[in-house]
Amino acid sequence: MCKGMEVKICLIGMGNVGTCFLQLLKEKQDNIRVNFNFNCKLVAIFEYDGALIDNDGIDLDNLLDDITNLRKNQYWISNVKAQDLISTLDIDICIETTPTNPNTGEPALTHIKEALNNKIDVISSNKAPFYLHYKKIQDLAEKMNCLVKFEATVASCVPAISIKKSLIGNTISRIRAILNGTNNYILSRMTTEGISFSVALKEAQELGYAETDPTLDISGYDAAGKLVILSNELLGWSKSIEDVKIKGITKITPHALELAKIDDYVIKHLAIAEENNLIVEPRLVKRDSLLNIQGTLNLIELQTKYAGSIILIGKGAGGFEAASAILNDLISIVKKRRGF
Ligand SMILES: NC(=O)c1ccc[n+]([C@@H]2O[C@H](COP(=O)([O-])OP(=O)(O)OC[C@H]3O[C@@H](n4cnc5c(N)ncnc54)[C@H](OP(=O)(O)O)[C@@H]3O)[C@@H](O)[C@H]2O)c1
Repeated sequence: MCKGMEVKICLIGMGNVGTCFLQLLKEKQDNIRVNFNFNCKLVAIFEYDGALIDNDGIDLDNLLDDITNLRKNQYWISNVKAQDLISTLDIDICIETTPTNPNTGEPALTHIKEALNNKIDVISSNKAPFYLHYKKIQDLAEKMNCLVKFEATVASCVPAISIKKSLIGNTISRIRAILNGTNNYILSRMTTEGISFSVALKEAQELGYAETDPTLDISGYDAAGKLVILSNELLGWSKSIEDVKIKGITKITPHALELAKIDDYVIKHLAIAEENNLIVEPRLVKRDSLLNIQGTLNLIELQTKYAGSIILIGKGAGGFEAASAILNDLISIVKKRRGF
């Protein structure tokens, strides 16, 4: 696996994140060759309605010139599914960027398991398989001697998961985080403009920050899923989403925000992992606290035993942001396979 100069990969789901990843790969391939001494050969792309498979390597220039070229390519096969063909591919790494069902983790969960069962390392941008079945996936990866990486699932390109490597000599005792940019945008606007929750939500939808159906965000479920992944990775826990006490932001009123202001507080939607408990809920935070970030940003504060608080802040969404996290995962898998 990943031993030679050539690393063979497949991509499942060529939507926003998948396409950005291919563009980034194209842009960075010379740099990867020079700095990390390997070439990436894209052998297969799976979409919901078929696959493009070329064992000689798919021509990225031609494909990305016009992504409708995918289904016009001579090697396009209609009506096949990734889970049926993964076992037939000669690949090192499977990159999974399909949309997921938040309650089942499918189809990503099946793709991940199928790849691992065939001794293929996995990179995924899908949260649900990991907040639902973290331990099962890790156990399977271990059994198959495979690596699974999922940096893009939490705060996208912010190195929320890989920071663990940089803190290996320290001990993380608590996580406090703002993990949903939509909710942070809504609360920021309610605080600064005095507008209601529904007006702020509508504004977020018009700007493309909130989905047409924002339930997963405003209920706190999305942040809870990310908190599970973070606490399992950084604190060594083994939790799933049922372990999180979740409260959303729908009941926060302009009046409550005004009351908070009197004592110089704001209300933030925090995700907290502390003393074996996982909580996502609105909390009072001092106005001058570093937790009081604005707009759609994400924040992760790690309380450490030997260095106090360490804070990461950055964009928690976006195609290229997630794609760059995937590329990081890819390079780190190759490095690890080569013993670095
Ligand atoms: N966008 C972000 O900023 C971001 C950041 C971090 C993580 N993520 C996560 O990354 C994943 C992908 O996000 P995205 O924004 O790229 O979504 P997207 O634009 O909807 O792309 C998903 C792609 O997967 C295809 N697909 C659907 N079912 C499939 C199947 N069974 N097999 C193969 N392909 C299938 C879709 O085809 P059709 O559209 O034709 O159905 C689409 O092309 C999601 O889980 C998301 O939560 C996204």
